[in-house]
Amino acid sequence: MRSTSLGRLDVSRIGLGVMGMSAYYTGAGRDEAESIRTIHRAVDLGVTHLDTAEVYGPYVNEGLVGRAIKGRRDDVVLATKFGLVSHTGRPGPDSTPANIRTAVDGSLRRLGTDRIDLYYQHRVDPRTPIEETVGALSELVEAGKVLHIGLSEAAAATIRRAHAVHPVAAVQSEYSLWARDPEAEVLPTLRELGIGLVPYSPLGHGFLAGDIGTLDGLDATDWRRSNPRFTGDNLTRNLRIVDQVREVADEVEATPAQVALAWLLTRGDGIAPIPGTKRSDRLEENSAADGIRLTPGQITRLNNLTPASGERHAEPDMAAIDQ
Ligand SMILES: NC(=O)c1ccc[n+]([C@@H]2O[C@H](COP(=O)([O-])OP(=O)(O)OC[C@H]3O[C@@H](n4cnc5c(N)ncnc54)[C@H](OP(=O)(O)O)[C@@H]3O)[C@@H](O)[C@H]2O)c1
Repeated sequence: MRSTSLGRLDVSRIGLGVMGMSAYYTGAGRDEAESIRTIHRAVDLGVTHLDTAEVYGPYVNEGLVGRAIKGRRDDVVLATKFGLVSHTGRPGPDSTPANIRTAVDGSLRRLGTDRIDLYYQHRVDPRTPIEETVGALSELVEAGKVLHIGLSEAAAATIRRAHAVHPVAAVQSEYSLWARDPEAEVLPTLRELGIGLVPYSPLGHGFLAGDIGTLDGLDATDWRRSNPRFTGDNLTRNLRIVDQVREVADEVEATPAQVALAWLLTRGDGIAPIPGTKRSDRLEENSAADGIRLTPGQITRLNNLTPASGERHAEPDMAAIDQ
């Protein structure tokens, strides 16, 4: 597995998102032993960039990661996020310095470590100036509790303000063959400032892997059931995108998931996707995308795929995204 840089932080080009091991997606097949096997297999294959968050569970996902990396802490780059759980009693996103100071100690304890490699604000908090948030983060860096800082789903102007207070190593945003939003403003800003991009949901919440033709197999509580891209006519229309990805996959003897990841890696250095899986066989499949070569013609076809139908999140979640 090759590596790339997010600011001054080196990470594996393909990482592992562990959220689905505890939350949001269909629970069938969720099993702690297999989740831990998946994390161990990741480390063995050099997939050392692990992504979790305080809100996943909440808390239980960080606890799972902590158990999985016991004795292997120095082999991984640990990323977690704060700001969607309030410890100050304030409803909604909370990136106040007081909340951050409480949150970090909980994350460190659950992860079983004395330092977080990459600590992200999970969503921009419209009620707390970003300068105050980043000021508090820079104090955590000084104290050695955090090594690098990041933002998630931040707009270009917010990224600039944050970076002026303390260097931002990475921005984590949804970015995939069917979510090209960062290309307009965020990615050029990151390039200019030397900040990395961590594409979350790089498989379109699993859709781009090509196994989801209907919602029948998804639990009643599966978060995708309320996602506009998975519902009604949008789902039918979006299946055409998967057909186009599969065509390329057949040509390079790869799977659609691998092509979706290999395409992201063609977008340049400093881009480190974190596909999510709770299964070791899929972890192996996804990590092998690092070795897949797409021809210029195939990259052009993927660049020009039919745009996705439907917003990428349901309304309350879209409203929480910094514009
Ligand atoms: N910053 C944010 O706001 C934010 C938001 C969402 C996610 N994230 C992070 O990004 C990570 C990844 O995103 P995500 O999990 O939402 O979406 P994703 O990586 O696009 O897709 C994950 C889904 O795809 C399935 N899958 C994975 N590999 C597959 C393969 N090779 N073939 C078929 N299906 C496959 C998984 O199922 P199985 O688990 O059953 O394999 C899971 O349901 C998360 O774990 C989390 O760390 C961050």
